This record gives sequence, structure tokens and C-alpha cells, in this order.
Amino acid sequence: MAEPRDVSRLLRQHKEMESFFAGDFTLRSRPVSAKVEPSGEPQRLLEEIAEEVRACRKCEIGSTRLNAVPGEGNPKARLVFVGEAPGADEDQQGRPFVGRAGQLLTRMIAAIGLRREDVFICNTLKCRPPENRDPRPDEIWNCLPYLKRQLAILRPEVIVALGSHAARTLLETDTAIGKLRGHFHEYRFSDADRPAKVMPTYHPAYLLRNYSYENRQRVWEDLQKVADALGLQLPKGSRQPEPS
Ligand code: URA
Repeated sequence: MAEPRDVSRLLRQHKEMESFFAGDFTLRSRPVSAKVEPSGEPQRLLEEIAEEVRACRKCEIGSTRLNAVPGEGNPKARLVFVGEAPGADEDQQGRPFVGRAGQLLTRMIAAIGLRREDVFICNTLKCRPPENRDPRPDEIWNCLPYLKRQLAILRPEVIVALGSHAARTLLETDTAIGKLRGHFHEYRFSDADRPAKVMPTYHPAYLLRNYSYENRQRVWEDLQKVADALGLQLPKGSRQPEPS
């Protein structure tokens, strides 16, 4: 099982190393993370990243996967959902959140008056870890530049981090999801930019496994805060999303 502490240590080390070197020869100049995104059309830029992801073999899981799952959705989305990693259904189809957890996510999106096509959905890892094991720190590390580049293109106002892996990776922390959820944090695209608001919440798969009233209530509260931050009007009669 991946140790979240390892992930945040890795990220911290990376940051320290970056500021230590602070030159063109830094890790920033690695091809995947360094590419300066032209201010071109987001759709095309996202497709370029998706192509790179499909060709990526940086980790072992790049060879055990059936399909890479780069992510999909509206290139002008104001709201982005970031999950953990593709499962078996996503691996089969090459699309994010299409299994049972995905159906619940679709309902969560509908509960705040949006459709999947209105938002962008992606994962921390773009390949399925075998047996649905947790992402490993080195895999998160290898995949992170893709996610960062996607977010830099999308520049959403709000990011919903689904579950502890997404939340801890985006926020570079090892704090438990139960403590992180419920209020907004910041994600900085770069030092100069206005940060995105990050709302960590429970992963829909966790919710399906732990389907208590309290957990549903917590996720619903988080989603309502997201809707509020985006100035969305909740659909009439909107209530906690239920699995089918
Ligand atoms: N769980 C995730 O975190 N992502 C998916 O795409 C599907 C299930």
C-alpha cells in the first residue's frame, strides 16, 4: 500500500531541489513538466497531453494497463474532478469514472445542476494499478506532470479532489481526508496566478463502501459549497445523490 507520507515527502524533496537549483537545468526542464503551454486552443493542448499519456511507459503499470485514461470533459470547464486511478471498467474503456463509482460521480455532478460534459474529469494516475491496489509514490510522481499540465490548461475555478490520494497529491500534504474535506484549500497553477479553490471530499468508491447517512451528508455539504463557490443554482428538489 502506498504510504501517503512518502508522497508528500517526495513532493517536498522535489520542491526543495527545484529551489536549490533554480536554473534551466532544474527538474523543471524535464520534458513532461517543463513544456511551456502556448496560449493555444485548450482542446488541442489537452489532446496532445492525452496522446503523450497513451504513449507513456514511465511506470510498470504503463505496460500492464489495457488503456491509458487521460481524462475527458469540457476544455473550458470551471470545475474539475480529480480521482485516484482508473479501475477495471475505466481500463477497459479508456475513459474516467465509467464504473459504479463513476455512476455515483455522475449523480453527484447532476446534484449540483451540471452534466459530465460541463466539467472535466481526470485522475491522479492515468493507468490502472493491477488488482486496484493503491497508487505507489513513484507512480504518482511520474504521472503528476500530466495532471499539472492538464490543470494549467484548464485553469478551473474549483477542483474537487476525490479521496485522499488526489487531495494529498494536489495539496502536498499527508493530512487525512477527513480533516481536509469540508473546506476550501488552494491549488496554485504558478506563483503569479490566481489559485484554484480545492474542495477535498470522500471518493465515490469509499462512499459506496461506507454508505452511512453521515458520510453522504458530508459529501453533500462539500458539493453544496462547490456549487456556491461557482454561483450555481441547485436544481429544484436537489438532494444528496444516491447510487442506483
Ligand atoms: N476511481 C477513480 O479514482 N477513478 C476512476 O476513473 C474510476 C474509479
